[in-house]
Amino acid sequence: MRNDRRRIAVIGFGAMVRSLQASFRRSGDHFGVAATLVPMEFAPAPSELGGVRLFNDVAELIDWHPSLVVECASHDAVRDFVPALLQKGIDTIIVSVGSLSDKTLLDSLEAAATKGGSRLTAVSGAIGGLDVLRSARSAGLSSVAYTGTKPPNAWTGTPAADAVDLASLSQPTVIFKGNAEQAARLYPKNANVTAAIALAGIGFDATSVVLIADPNATTNLHRVVATGAFGSFSIELQNKPLPDNPKTSLLAALSIEEAIVRHFRAIDV
Ligand SMILES: NC(=O)c1ccc[n+]([C@@H]2O[C@H](COP(=O)([O-])OP(=O)(O)OC[C@H]3O[C@@H](n4cnc5c(N)ncnc54)[C@H](O)[C@@H]3O)[C@@H](O)[C@H]2O)c1
Repeated sequence: MRNDRRRIAVIGFGAMVRSLQASFRRSGDHFGVAATLVPMEFAPAPSELGGVRLFNDVAELIDWHPSLVVECASHDAVRDFVPALLQKGIDTIIVSVGSLSDKTLLDSLEAAATKGGSRLTAVSGAIGGLDVLRSARSAGLSSVAYTGTKPPNAWTGTPAADAVDLASLSQPTVIFKGNAEQAARLYPKNANVTAAIALAGIGFDATSVVLIADPNATTNLHRVVATGAFGSFSIELQNKPLPDNPKTSLLAALSIEEAIVRHFRAIDV
């Protein structure tokens, strides 16, 4: 069953899962979402499931023997369900990468995977260039800097909303300057990208982060600049949103499919 590409389970049943299902259909249904784990309080209506089996409890999902589980839900879902899956030998892909900024959780996931002989994979999500950071770090990275620019309304409900009047900004305004540890803690909505960069590169304390509210921005813009023994590197992404959920970028959803295909592929290129 471990190699059954059509026995994949997801955690959550939101915009990313719908986008993943559409992608699978477009590429010929070689892969399939067969089950979902969603606790009672968030459970979708049966009519929304389209034949996908619903589990409310992680133990029931484990007994069903999924070939792979893909978390597409929330940081809490990683904390609540993924250690149990890994401990039972079930390989798991997570999209809520920001949850890994919690060192205690990261350690417990590592211990669970080691015990279960399983593997946890974090998707690249809304960012790119992580392969460069991973390759470059063993020779020494001297700096990694991330700048995230979003329209002002993307920062509502964050500490920026207390510090500046987001609605009346007329020019790009820096709303946060610090390291990735502080950014992940204070701006959890941006934590997936900052955590992915910090984990691939030089860690949470040494990664510098600048967040900008830009009234002229129409997309989310991510920029990473790194220097080290390897030379230097910069990458810039202008991400389009997922039609179903403007807070999530299309690239983040596409990166889930990429991680699943790689998981099952005999040759990893
Ligand atoms: N890595 C990245 O770059 C990146 C980018 C964007 C979003 N994300 C992550 O992806 C997640 C999903 O995005 P989406 O657009 O599909 O969101 P969404 O809100 O459309 O869907 C989330 C789904 O998860 C369910 N859910 C919520 N809490 C849950 C829990 N504790 N256990 C199980 N299910 C739960 C909800 O009911 C919903 O079905 C986000 O919460 C975010 O953490 C990652």
